[in-house]
Amino acid sequence: MNNRKEQQMLRRGNEFIAAHASSVAASVLRQRYHFMGPGGWINDPNGLVFFRGQYHFFYQFNPFEPFWSHMHWGHAVSDDLIHWKHLPIALAPSEEYECHPRGGCFSGSTIEKDGRLYLIYTGTSNHGNGFVQTQCVAWTDDGINFVKYEGNPVLRAPQGVPTDFFRDPKVFEYGGKYFLVCGAQREGRAQALLYSSQDLLQWEFVNVLFESRGEWGFMWECPDFFPLGEKWVFVCSPMGVGERTCVYFVGDFDAERGRFFPQVNGEVDWGFDFYAPQSLQTPDNRRVMVGWANGWDWMPFWKDWGPTWRDGWCGAFGVPRQVTLDESLHLVSKPIAEINTLRDLGKKTEHASLAVDSTYKLNVGDGVSYDLSFEVDLEATSASCAELLLRSDGEEGLRIQWDFDNAELRVERDRADGWSTGVSRSPLCLMGKSQLDVRICVDVCSVELFVDGGRIVHSMNDFAPLENKEIRFKVADGQLVIKNLTGYPMKAVADPALTFELH
Ligand code: FRU
Repeated sequence: MNNRKEQQMLRRGNEFIAAHASSVAASVLRQRYHFMGPGGWINDPNGLVFFRGQYHFFYQFNPFEPFWSHMHWGHAVSDDLIHWKHLPIALAPSEEYECHPRGGCFSGSTIEKDGRLYLIYTGTSNHGNGFVQTQCVAWTDDGINFVKYEGNPVLRAPQGVPTDFFRDPKVFEYGGKYFLVCGAQREGRAQALLYSSQDLLQWEFVNVLFESRGEWGFMWECPDFFPLGEKWVFVCSPMGVGERTCVYFVGDFDAERGRFFPQVNGEVDWGFDFYAPQSLQTPDNRRVMVGWANGWDWMPFWKDWGPTWRDGWCGAFGVPRQVTLDESLHLVSKPIAEINTLRDLGKKTEHASLAVDSTYKLNVGDGVSYDLSFEVDLEATSASCAELLLRSDGEEGLRIQWDFDNAELRVERDRADGWSTGVSRSPLCLMGKSQLDVRICVDVCSVELFVDGGRIVHSMNDFAPLENKEIRFKVADGQLVIKNLTGYPMKAVADPALTFELH
């Protein structure tokens, strides 16, 4: 049973959402096929899991305003990772270990044990000695009602780790034990601490799984750690490493000694709006990763979170991606196959071959929400640089540029929408290639670009007005040759009406 304070907090939040959900759903800026909360503010995905025959998403949630504060855990369920139902709030800050007014129940993860789903999250408090982050446990048997463990917190920052840099536990099972990786800091450098447990309640420190020597920043938010094939992948959102929003390391895990040995690293996403992802294992053994499609005000390119707060909401997740490793152990990300079911097949745009000399206007659906794929024929292309202008008013828009001469990919949004800023750039390996594949998922306020089989991804928000819907290829010199272009309007997933009864 929840205690009275918690019941009150849950009720307040649920009532507030219920009262505002239909006006939020009427916002023209709502994404059409990306996950969003029912209103208020959302950030990190938390505890993505398949439990009792359904996918569950939990997420950082402030039900009361479209700004970050009072973190709760929002909760939604789905059969296919695309169509969602919002459930009542899972966790509301009610206890002394999570009562910081500019804090609450911070990020964490979930795991099933003996039919019970455990939530392991960071409680934040301040009792006069600064910001204190501790790890706490809650559980559910029915997937709707949650109980906080009376013995919380289960972990406190060890000596030498500042209490405000000890958060975001990611729990997993391996070799008959439970492990937990927690973001931490020591002497100004980021660390991932590894703990183990038999029962998910009593935790013992195992080792420093992996640490920064300064080159990887001063804190790793939302670490994720999972096996992929023969290897292990460590993903985190590092603080203090310039424009890097999310990085991965691939290597080996010595579970006995609690050490990770990275061999390869790279950017999970080169764009500015992909942060704090978490992954889950699907019943058919795919590893699916979902990120928060936004960033924080301490980031170098940050401007603000866009105009949706005026309609009572802020925040969405990126398209769920299946992640795999290529032969060189680099991470490859592709939109999950389930997304294809939203393509409006009857309104397909198709070009087996397209040669662009100066400019070509492309029509795909309404130009606002669509899924576009093509290949650049590198042998037939003579242009030194090609551009695709999206969500354009005819002049300005989000510009994707392939600079073939300099082997660089750029996504420029400085003149896109009056809100967002920054140009994200990534190296583009063209060596030995005769073609380059491109897939772009566009929705009302986001553009996600997957290039080179998913080795390079740029995710960006673009809050252009709905009238900005022109799609145009441009080249300044020579010719751009495109092959096998297909574009589909995306069928809107109904904004999930609130399906829960208030109790
Ligand atoms: C990452 C993060 C986490 C924290 C949460 C708070 O985006 O800063 O480190 O737990 O958001 O909402």
